[in-house]
Amino acid sequence: MRVFLFLFVLFLHISLQSPFMHKDSTYRINVYTFNKTLEFTDRIKRIDALEYLPFEGTVSLKRAQHIFCLLEDYGTDPNNIPDNPYYVYFGRWIADGQRELIRSHSVKNRHFIGNTSMDAGLSFIMANHAKVKENDVVFDPFVGTGSLLVACSHFGAYVCGIDIDYNTIHGRGRSSRKNQKWRGPDENIRANLRQYGTEKMYLDVMVSDASKSVWRNAALFDAIITDPPYGIRESTRRTGSHKDIPRPPDAIYLESHVPVSLAYHLNDIFTDLLNFSAHHLVMGGRLVYWLPVYRPEYSEEMVPLHPCLQLVSNCEQTLSSHTARRLITMEKIKEPQEFDSLAHLADSRFRPYQGHNAFREKYFSGLNKRCGKEDNKSDVNGE
Ligand SMILES: C[S@@+](CC[C@H](N)C(=O)[O-])C[C@H]1O[C@@H](n2cnc3c(N)ncnc32)[C@H](O)[C@@H]1O
Repeated sequence: MRVFLFLFVLFLHISLQSPFMHKDSTYRINVYTFNKTLEFTDRIKRIDALEYLPFEGTVSLKRAQHIFCLLEDYGTDPNNIPDNPYYVYFGRWIADGQRELIRSHSVKNRHFIGNTSMDAGLSFIMANHAKVKENDVVFDPFVGTGSLLVACSHFGAYVCGIDIDYNTIHGRGRSSRKNQKWRGPDENIRANLRQYGTEKMYLDVMVSDASKSVWRNAALFDAIITDPPYGIRESTRRTGSHKDIPRPPDAIYLESHVPVSLAYHLNDIFTDLLNFSAHHLVMGGRLVYWLPVYRPEYSEEMVPLHPCLQLVSNCEQTLSSHTARRLITMEKIKEPQEFDSLAHLADSRFRPYQGHNAFREKYFSGLNKRCGKEDNKSDVNGE
């Protein structure tokens, strides 16, 4: 029985391979190594060693119809390279990755940047997690300098966002660049999209507070993708209202006075973000955001959940031995009912994020423990 199964699998493999190996085809084999450089003669030896494969076509180095790749993995330690690879992979080339985008969209050469601009590689990863595609409408409720909108517009989505900071939205105020005191004219998100040829995908951005939604119920987005403020490099604030702060009896300010800002606790930020997403994502639409974690206390149960959003993935980016942020991807699976609104106070998973700047205090307490090295640079929310 086992022999039969083996022959069947072999037959299946051969039948899958034959379109790319038949006698009228042309092919080439490339050899790649990780953490080791091979001499030319060794590369040829590796290719010769594949002669047992049933290639019937003709080799063409310049115009091969099919390209096959042999990859040898020698680990990640440059001081301890083994003689033989840990892993060997062989397969047919299908398409190139898009790593070039990391260089072409680097924030170093971007027209408009801020202290917390998200780097290009992570922005594209977030857009991919959100499955952003042509003609989608994508929203960032903490848009900053719009790095995530840049990535989403590259994939053909219409983009919009809000931020509480007037200067950021209008591209005014102090510059984040060395040797430049004030932002120059036209330093704004629209100009960033223009730089990459995607200005036509720009819907708009506006000054608004994520804690007080201004959207009509009918407003729907294909994806919500964001990098919320953690209070490390920027404060977590929301607009105030006279209902929020009890006025002392001897208050002398006017009846119409509204406090400029109040603390916006991390647990409120995540509650608002999940509730907003449950209401304003299309069915199957995705929410992608970063959750800061204090590693010694982290457990999967701390990831905020919502009855209408299914957790799709949870990936860690280590920042120091004690701190990390986790890229959370959720997908809308049902329309919210009245009782589906997230009441975070009853939910223990929100406890780590209660109290203003709780994460911030822990983050700074662990600063000198950065992956075992002495280091004082903060790296949360900006690279
Ligand atoms: C980490 S930054 C986002 C950076 C952005 N991804 C970029 O690439 O520039 C967080 C942003 O949230 C904004 N913010 C803070 N509190 C807010 C609120 N209550 N409503 C909307 N935006 C807020 C801050 O002004 C800041 O620009």
